Amino acid sequence: MSSLTESVAWQALKSQQKAMQSFSIKKSFAQDQNRFSKFSRKDCKILFDFSKNLIDQTSFDLLLNLAKQAQVSQKISDLFNGFKVNTSEQQAVLHTILRKPIGYKVELDGVNIVPVIHLALSKMSKIVSEVHNGLWRGFNGREITDIVNIGIGGSYLGQYLVSEGLLPYRRAKINCHYLANIDGSEFYHLTQKVKAESTLFIISSKSFSTLETIKNACSIKNWYFAQGGTKEGFNQHFLAVTANAQKAVEFGLEPFNIIPMWDYIGGRYSLWSAIGLPIAFSIEMSNFMELLSGAFSVDQHVQQQDLAQNIPLIMALLDVWYSNFWDAQTKAVLPYDYYLRNFTQHLQQLDMESNGKSVQLDGSQVDYKTGSIIWGGLGCNGQHAYHQLLHQGTHLVPVDFIVPAVSHNFVDDHHYYLYANCLAQSQSLMEGKSYSEVVLELQNKGLSAKQIEHLAPHKVIIGNKPSNTLVLDRVTPFSLGALIALYEHKVFLQSVILNINAFDQFSVELGKSLSYRVYEALKGSNLDGLDSSTKALVDYFRLNQRG
Ligand code: F6P
Repeated sequence: MSSLTESVAWQALKSQQKAMQSFSIKKSFAQDQNRFSKFSRKDCKILFDFSKNLIDQTSFDLLLNLAKQAQVSQKISDLFNGFKVNTSEQQAVLHTILRKPIGYKVELDGVNIVPVIHLALSKMSKIVSEVHNGLWRGFNGREITDIVNIGIGGSYLGQYLVSEGLLPYRRAKINCHYLANIDGSEFYHLTQKVKAESTLFIISSKSFSTLETIKNACSIKNWYFAQGGTKEGFNQHFLAVTANAQKAVEFGLEPFNIIPMWDYIGGRYSLWSAIGLPIAFSIEMSNFMELLSGAFSVDQHVQQQDLAQNIPLIMALLDVWYSNFWDAQTKAVLPYDYYLRNFTQHLQQLDMESNGKSVQLDGSQVDYKTGSIIWGGLGCNGQHAYHQLLHQGTHLVPVDFIVPAVSHNFVDDHHYYLYANCLAQSQSLMEGKSYSEVVLELQNKGLSAKQIEHLAPHKVIIGNKPSNTLVLDRVTPFSLGALIALYEHKVFLQSVILNINAFDQFSVELGKSLSYRVYEALKGSNLDGLDSSTKALVDYFRLNQRG
């Protein structure tokens, strides 16, 4: 057994879970009028209600003991102060400096790097304002009307979430598009929508070597010239955000068109940097700064609050509680707001690429569950799709509901219904419907005893299913920034509790290298050494190219 699972705090939670076999969330609300106030927190313009969980004061205290045992306070301070918390790559992890107001100081190898960050922000600001004010124009003098972000993973999902999520703050003239996948169909449809003369392409790639991104960038470059784009005008149409300036220069970019990224910013934590340029183009720099302020408020929260008040820590502990002690296999994240429709997708990368690990910091195997499997999507749509399984299926699936109190769009009383549906889901997950309630209901409908006997088991909903509800004031740059940062810190704190490294992602490399080998095989190289399945699939592909 690992020292974590052998530890006093872990073992105490195991016993507590056994003791809670007949714990009823519904009953505990009836017994304790203060349950909501005990198990909810409000900060950074977000109300976090975790009262509908399988916890009582004892289990909450025991979870906090687990956090203390993991020395989370020390680890939080290590993260913020630039210690090399990415131990496998000996790298500091400093996305939090991206949201620090000027005047703060964070030293890396003896140098204060906050001014460097603000220099990049100024450059972003200059480019954005030149484009917005029509000073930055295309090769034939046309104004820029469209921005295309060419990037994938962390160089796509965050910007996509936020630029779409803050559409109410959009500057009308600029349309943002995304080219992420290497799929030619995506390329085709994008190039049907934009004109080379009025489009600015941003190659977002920390490494400037990701296959999908570089292939797309090269094809777009060819397309630009095929559309009449001139060599002289090239730098009016292409920007790069990267930590690999040399490669961007080789691509043909002038130094001014290259905005820096840094090794100490992980891709999935990078939307706050110039990787967030499409966001700034969409909502203007002032709103981008508001987004940073929202995230900064959570940075302050996570550093300053006591463990029992610390929202991301509570979120992390609950995830550990369910996956390791209640055998939950997955977790659903269900935003009830059109503008948050891409939130789950972003979170999948943030959480699963970070904490999908099997070894502890020292390289030894874990003997417990690590990262959560995140899935979900927009409510109410999910209610008419997969919620059935949440309510009556055999898996325990803890849920995060996310909803704004105020909508951006008042259409009759739609938002009342939307909000009501969100609350009704968490309520019915918790309350369920007992056998006796079902019987009474069917009796009232006039069904016979035989009919009731047959039907009742199908209509029983066990209930006692846990959920959190996060209520934003509304989806603003500030609150969205805060929401994303809450989850970032949740992911980090979960990794601390589980003693794993949230900041490397070595498995991505394996898929990349194998794809080159298969590519060569598709192009005609010999198939020796391939397994029979891959070989047959390669053959099938080759055969179809001829047909
Ligand atoms: O998906 C793996 C990954 O390494 C992510 O972590 C990263 O955000 C993405 O690829 C893109 O990488 P880059 O920005 O270097 O193109």
